This record gives sequence, structure tokens and C-alpha cells, in this order.
Amino acid sequence: MLNFKYHNPTKIIFGKGRIKDVAKEIPKGSRILITYGGGSVRRNGVLDQVMNALEGRDVLEFSGIEPNPEYDTLMKCVELARSERIDFILAVGGGSVIDGTKFIAAAVPYQGDTWEIATSFGRRIGGSLPFGTVLTLPATGSEMNSNAVISRCSLNAKLAFGHPSLFPVFSVLDPTTTYTLPPEQISNGIIDTFVHVTEQYLTYPVQGKLQDRFAEGLLLTLIEDGPVALREPENYDVRASLMWCATLGLNGLIGAGVPQDWATHMVGHELTALYGLDHGKTLAIVLPALLRARRNEKRDKLLQYAERVWGIVEGDDDARIEAAIEKTQAFFESLGVRTALSAYGISNECIPRVAELLEQHGLTRLGERSDITPDTVREVLELCL
Ligand code: NZQ
Ligand code: ZN
Repeated sequence: MLNFKYHNPTKIIFGKGRIKDVAKEIPKGSRILITYGGGSVRRNGVLDQVMNALEGRDVLEFSGIEPNPEYDTLMKCVELARSERIDFILAVGGGSVIDGTKFIAAAVPYQGDTWEIATSFGRRIGGSLPFGTVLTLPATGSEMNSNAVISRCSLNAKLAFGHPSLFPVFSVLDPTTTYTLPPEQISNGIIDTFVHVTEQYLTYPVQGKLQDRFAEGLLLTLIEDGPVALREPENYDVRASLMWCATLGLNGLIGAGVPQDWATHMVGHELTALYGLDHGKTLAIVLPALLRARRNEKRDKLLQYAERVWGIVEGDDDARIEAAIEKTQAFFESLGVRTALSAYGISNECIPRVAELLEQHGLTRLGERSDITPDTVREVLELCL
């Protein structure tokens, strides 16, 4: 196992009816700013629950944080938070609202050009305003990690950054808030969680036995519960299970002490920046192709994955690996998510564009061995057509 340091200070408040607990978690006398997206939380009553919980407190609202949160929108909120002297932010929504809130929390005290927060991958952040979250979409793990991804359309940029000050102070995970999610977002969330796990599992072995078993447990749970979540939107136990899987998929636990890949994500971010595809869909397209292109480098873990996750034991090594990749792809398709670029009307003209953006963003040595270059990405994308 590799050396690691693990620290995760986010308090999780899990279960039905827990939104009312937020008031206790926010220091008395705080000037609170509630951030949310395009209105789903207004329509499904989650915002009302938050407002009731904070009755009598000093609360302002900022709405309109879009999916793939946009820098210009977030800067409007930064100005509001500065002028209103906000000292606690509460994000209510999915990964985009939480990520946007992380940017706002870091940008409010930031001296200088706030775009540097993203272009420096977070290295220039000095500290952030404290914030909590009420999660309504299980997918990103942003509710229990210190990373965020924001976009700036005018620059074709979608950049990830992180900083230790960007862990939420607390996150409320009430699975009933997910009942109103459109099936498409449930599918995106299942695939996002699945790929967070594979990014930390399908690399090379380092005898991280527990991390492997934990990762396999998450994948098996997603395969079992994912289709049920789509068929039975108000099945509490299934929604609870997916919500906790999503959080554990990217809160640092399964990645501690093992190599990590993240190339699928970096290529996916460029596809979103160029074509506006949902994050989960980009991953469903790129992962199977990346696994095929990297089958030799990932051989041992792919064979373990084939056997332990998909029960594939027949055939030679290559046949078992290909069967596991086919099963993965079929699982994504069974959730209603297409896995080829052509299904989204994207042709091979995307290949040089993605490679160029990766170079522009300094993302030229990706993967668990830092050996995935823009040329490798070109090969991967050829397999995505
Ligand atoms: O904007 P509203 O009206 O709230 O609607 C949202 C949005 O349209 C809707 N929604 C959310 N909860 C709902 C709901 N609709 C009905 N009922 C509910 N309970 O769902 C739509 C998508 O929301 P969004 O927040 O964009 O989705 P998701 O949580 O999948 O977040 C995706 C973003 O997270 C980033 C992605 O790149 C993308 O920008 N990621 C963040 C990561 C992190 N911070 O660690 C890691 C991930 O790999 C990912 O990159
Ligand atoms: Zn993701």
C-alpha cells in the first residue's frame, strides 16, 4: 500500500427529515447566504424545508447557479456576498450548486483575479468562507470532498480545483430529496459514482486489499440498486443506498493508499466544455474506450474487476477483459445513457479539439502513471466514435 495522509472534517447528517437540523450546525449570529440552482429545490419543497429550519435567522438567497456552474454567474454571487458581509453559505442542490458554492467561498476573501483560483488548480487559495450543503443529487461526492469544477464558456474552459479549506462543514443527505430527480439525472449520477470508483480502482495493484474490496462493494451496489432506482423512484432504501455510495465514492477513503487515474474525467471535462454534454454522459463514452486502450497497463486490475464485479471466469485473459468492458458498457446503456460520441452527433472533428484543450490546460501527462499524453487521448477518442 502507498503512504497516505487522510483527513476529512465534513460532518454527515444522513436520513429522512434531517434538513431541520441545519440550524444547529450554523453558528449563531451568522449572516447566511443560501445558494441554489435553476429552481428544482423551490418546486420540490426542499428550499421551504431549509427556510423553515432557519426561521428567525439572518438569511439571504442567491439562485441561478447552472449545471456546469459558470464563472460569470458565480462572480455575481461573490459580489453579493462581499457587499452583504456574508459569513456562512448554505448550498442547496446537486454537485453544480455545491461546486459553485466552493468557488464563491474561496473567491470572497481572495485578493486578485479570482479566475486564478481555477487556473492554479486551487493552489493560490488562501482560505475560504465556511459553508454547508443540503444535497439533492447523488453523484459527485462534492458534499464530502474539497474539490470543485467550474466552467467559463467564453474560454471553452471547465477546470477542476481543490483546497483543504473547501470541505463542507456539514452536509445533509436526505434521500427523499432525490425523489423528484428526472431519470436522466439518476442515471448520470450512478455513472458518475461508478467512474469515480473505477478511477481509483482500475489502475495497478499495490496490495490495497481493503480499498479494493470497498471499491468492488460500491460497484456491486450500484449495479444492483441502479436499475431499481429508475424503476421505483420512491424506494427509500434504494435511494439511501445510492446517496451513500456517491458520497463514499469520492470522499478520499477508497483512494487513500492506492494509485489513481482520473484521465476519463479530464477528457470528459473537455467534452463538456466543447459540446455541453452532461458530465455523466461524457464518462459513459470515455471509460470503456479508455479501458480498451489501456488494457495492458491495467491488465491485473481489469482481470480482478472481471472476476469479482462481473463474475467472469471463462476464457483467456484478453477475452475476460473484453467481456468485462462490454458488461460495463451494457450497464451504462441499460440506464439509458448512450456510450458512443456519434449518438450525441459528435464526429471525429472533436479529436484534435479535445487534444488541443488538454494541452492548453497543462493536462498532458494523465493517468496513474502520468503516461497518458494527448496522443493517447487521440487513440482513446477514436474508440469512442
Ligand atoms: O438547477 P436545478 O433547478 O436545481 O436542477 C438541477 C440540474 O438541472 C437538477 N436537480 C438537482 N437536484 C434535483 C434536480 N431536479 C429535480 N429534483 C432534484 N432533487 O439536476 C440537474 C443537474 O444538476 P447538477 O448539479 O449539474 O448535477 P451533478 O450533481 O451531476 O453535478 C455535475 C457537476 O459536478 C461536477 C461535474 O463536472 C459537473 O459540473 N463534478 C464535481 C466533482 C467534485 N466536486 O468532486 C467531481 C465530479 O467528477 C464532477 O466533475
Ligand atoms: Zn465525476
